[in-house]
Amino acid sequence: MIRPVLVLLTMSTLLACHSSRKAAAPNPPIDSYHYSIEKTVTGNKGAVVSAHPLASEAGVLVLKKGGNAVDAAIATQLALAVVYPGAGNLGGGGFLVAHLQDGKELAIDYREMAPSGSSRDMYIDKDGKARTDLSQDGHLASGVPGTVAGLFEAARYSKLSFKELIDPAIELAEKGFVITEREARSLNGIQQDLQQLNTRPNAFQKKDKWKAGDTLVQKDLAATLRRIREKGAAGFYEGETARLIVEEMQRGKGIISYADLKNYVARSRQPHRFDYKGYAVVSMPMPSSGGLLLHQMLKMIEGKDIATMGFHSPQAVQLMIEAERRAYADRAEYMGDMDFYKVPVAALTDKKYIADRMKDFTPGKASDSKIIGPGKAAAKESEETTHLSVIDGDGNAVAVTTTLNGGYGSRVVVGGAGFFLNNEMDDFSIKPGVPNMYGAVGGEANAIAPGKRMLSSMTPTIVLQNGKPYIVTGTPGGTTIPTSVFQTIVNILDFGLSAKDAVDKAKFHHQWLPDAVFVEKDFPAATQEALRKMGYKIDSRGDIGRVELIRVLPDGKFEAVADKRGDDSASGW
Ligand code: GLY
Repeated sequence: MIRPVLVLLTMSTLLACHSSRKAAAPNPPIDSYHYSIEKTVTGNKGAVVSAHPLASEAGVLVLKKGGNAVDAAIATQLALAVVYPGAGNLGGGGFLVAHLQDGKELAIDYREMAPSGSSRDMYIDKDGKARTDLSQDGHLASGVPGTVAGLFEAARYSKLSFKELIDPAIELAEKGFVITEREARSLNGIQQDLQQLNTRPNAFQKKDKWKAGDTLVQKDLAATLRRIREKGAAGFYEGETARLIVEEMQRGKGIISYADLKNYVARSRQPHRFDYKGYAVVSMPMPSSGGLLLHQMLKMIEGKDIATMGFHSPQAVQLMIEAERRAYADRAEYMGDMDFYKVPVAALTDKKYIADRMKDFTPGKASDSKIIGPGKAAAKESEETTHLSVIDGDGNAVAVTTTLNGGYGSRVVVGGAGFFLNNEMDDFSIKPGVPNMYGAVGGEANAIAPGKRMLSSMTPTIVLQNGKPYIVTGTPGGTTIPTSVFQTIVNILDFGLSAKDAVDKAKFHHQWLPDAVFVEKDFPAATQEALRKMGYKIDSRGDIGRVELIRVLPDGKFEAVADKRGDDSASGW
């Protein structure tokens, strides 16, 4: 058996390697049987940070072949669809935000869409009960996948051929790769679901337990990737792959049709853009709430001198919690797919509105979500999403967050096609006021309608300094995504933390409802105690987010940091 070499390096400065590589040796292929996790990398040519070392390597490989950051983001996503099946995907959706060398900015929306056969009350039974089992598990939970269309929309800005970008993923699927301890545990955790929810055998099922060092080979997925290589997006949305998806739906009482697949379109939108203390923040607009929430939260604290309060001090944390509470109350009331619902973005970010929202903030005393409510002018998501950040030597920066929603999505693998389908329908408000997967609520703005895109929290974000990329970041984490990005940015811009500390230090989260502050286990006990005294309910929980961050240092080098919380890994030179 081949065992992976998983070496944890804290810092790897690869500049030296680069200068000694002048003789232009051909790029070695990715060795999927031996790889290491690198948490921090510096360089000045290019960098990729993602949830898996092999995916980050795939991105760097295409950068070294002359591709730009968009090429690398595409190759990394395709590789994640193979090596990170819990969230990397072909059967899900995502968002890409980019700031290109020439100043052009992109916000590509490839969020899943509700199938044409969907309806507002499709998850409500005859007794009026919300059937979250159906919106979360199995075939009916899936929206029409957007990822492949999104990759081709992004490819309009790439330099290399799509074939070159997809080849590493095909090889990883065909030859297999050794899995880590964490992946083995994760796959073992879904064996019962795989058994119950699937209509055909698949590569993820195993009689004995998966172990670190086992090789995961995905022949069906390799064949699907090859069809995409040959036929472009039609290799997924039409022909053989479409047939396999629709037949899977028919066997499992799902509703995605041939027409739904053929009609899916990725949309290029205007990024959500605003200033914070002289920096320009470029993030995702609706149907992600991420950019707008980030905007509201940063503006709610901008006028306060949070730096002098101190990092993780009770004063600073309380201020940020109250900003989070108010922004998330607005999310539940006002946010949804703007193609279907008029979201009052300008009103929600108006200077006076933001100031009014914080008027009843009392230092040292917890507000009450029963009284706060949305302003006059929260759906729960899964945390199994994944983010990648990329930068190249020409100054192109790309942030991508992509998801199946829950871990391994609906846990349905398309028979013969080898990829998991999403359970993104649960990100709609399936019944007003009924909490979904992570306890937040929504209403009319995010109700189901055929062709509508469910509200997201994904927050791929680029912060610009003097018009140039300074921070490229994002994270998985469902509703905790915007608060993690908020805290990471404040950690750097206000508290002056290093990129590594900004990513790794304990995070906290408030989302209006439930009215509680969630903190990671290593969150300072003294601050927790002080918050309790102010009237906050504190719930300790597992990891919050897995932030992937690239920062451009004053000398122009990149520092790429992968979150300590997973197998996440940085690669670059
Ligand atoms: N499913 C996670 C999100 O879109 O926010």
